[in-house]
Amino acid sequence: LHAIMSLVMGSIFPIDDIDNVEECLQPFRLSLEKLQDVSSRLRKDLIRGLGKHTHCRAPVKMLPTFVRATPDGREKGDFLALDLGGTNFRVLHVRVVEEMQKLLKMDSKICAIPQEIMLGTGEQLFDHIAACLAEFLESLELKDQTLPLGFTFSFPCEQKDIDKSLLIHWTKGFNCSGVVGEDVVRLLREAIHRRGDYDIGSVAMVNDTVGTMMSCGYRDQSCEIGMIIGTGTNACYMEEIKNVKRVEGEDGRMCINTEWGGFGDDGSLKDIQTEFDLVVDRDSLNPGVHVFEKMISGMYLGEIARLVLVKLARDKLLFGGDLSVALLTQDSFETRFISEIEEGLQKAQEILSKLDLPAGPVDCQIVRLVCDSLSTRSAQLCATALATIANRIRVNRGLDHLSTTVGVDGTVYKKHPNFSEKLQETVRILAPKCDITFLVSDDGSGKGAAMVTAVAQRLAMQSRI
Ligand code: GLC
Repeated sequence: LHAIMSLVMGSIFPIDDIDNVEECLQPFRLSLEKLQDVSSRLRKDLIRGLGKHTHCRAPVKMLPTFVRATPDGREKGDFLALDLGGTNFRVLHVRVVEEMQKLLKMDSKICAIPQEIMLGTGEQLFDHIAACLAEFLESLELKDQTLPLGFTFSFPCEQKDIDKSLLIHWTKGFNCSGVVGEDVVRLLREAIHRRGDYDIGSVAMVNDTVGTMMSCGYRDQSCEIGMIIGTGTNACYMEEIKNVKRVEGEDGRMCINTEWGGFGDDGSLKDIQTEFDLVVDRDSLNPGVHVFEKMISGMYLGEIARLVLVKLARDKLLFGGDLSVALLTQDSFETRFISEIEEGLQKAQEILSKLDLPAGPVDCQIVRLVCDSLSTRSAQLCATALATIANRIRVNRGLDHLSTTVGVDGTVYKKHPNFSEKLQETVRILAPKCDITFLVSDDGSGKGAAMVTAVAQRLAMQSRI
């Protein structure tokens, strides 16, 4: 790296300075041994999360989802879906067509959730959701139908059943009062009843990872893992019920929402947290919560980059030591800038000048190097966690070799120019006995919720026959 940097920057940039930039980025570079070590910590944490007595203090929650089957192609019907917890809040009308083995999005609508509502009361939040749904139904003349609804609610929830789910804590910038510990399905139904102008049928609660797995499951029935790398990061997978100690039963499988974002919340990742990660955590809405997520996902990557750039500028290694008010403002460096800058230096110049930073060609190279270090670490950490899960599934099933499919979604995975390559490369190294196919989900958190509802209906009908 040193040689490349010297070559690129030539005589315009003193070698000592290159060393200093590299020294600042060093803590983000994780060796293969370190990743293997992190994987073995996570392997133990997965077991702690599943255990009856160890669960309550486990940082990786391993939540039962009550999803016991992936689609078998016999599902059908019309559904509503709500998707809360990603980049946007959306309402959808989805049709599952049996003959065509297809999930069709008939219509959808994005509703903004203003910051005051994200930080307001639970009642305000659910009234807002019910109002968006009302407008949507009105516009499609569906208000007099009582359709089943899939509710993608992408926060850690203690699920009691497919339609009963208590919020454990908020993540990703939401912090509405009066919701933690409550059943979110009840809060949704109550808000709809308060209005009284329409009703909904049975509800299935779904995490976005589960929706993603299920929407891919329709296309590829060996899809048994769902992964999100977007605003937040998380994964779910099909676990043997006998290992899920908090749920009765010995036979079959259940989908487990790992909530791997919480990995490290007991301090187990201290050795890889950089000074920048500590600041991002300290200044977040939920310090100490979702440590792993804060090193990886879109809500935080841009802010980590900003802090690194500020430090380099303060050390006179960037922008001739100049700092702009914009760069000193929290969250001013958006995560999408990382993808854009890694795509090309031209874009780097544009972005930096919008932030009022006097960036020459060498500055642009350095900023790109910073972005590359952060996205690489993010991809490698995700890969480590994914490899841990794939290895677990393989060992669970007593297989020498596992072939499986992962349904993936999320802006970081989809928008970054080479995130998926870096991730897949690391997974191959860390899970050499697993052959993993990656399937980018087609709106899993929207359509997948309808699919979970459809599978639940199919199972309910079968059990009645
Ligand atoms: C956060 C949430 C989790 C969700 C993930 C991706 O980690 O806690 O439930 O799946 O973000 O959206």
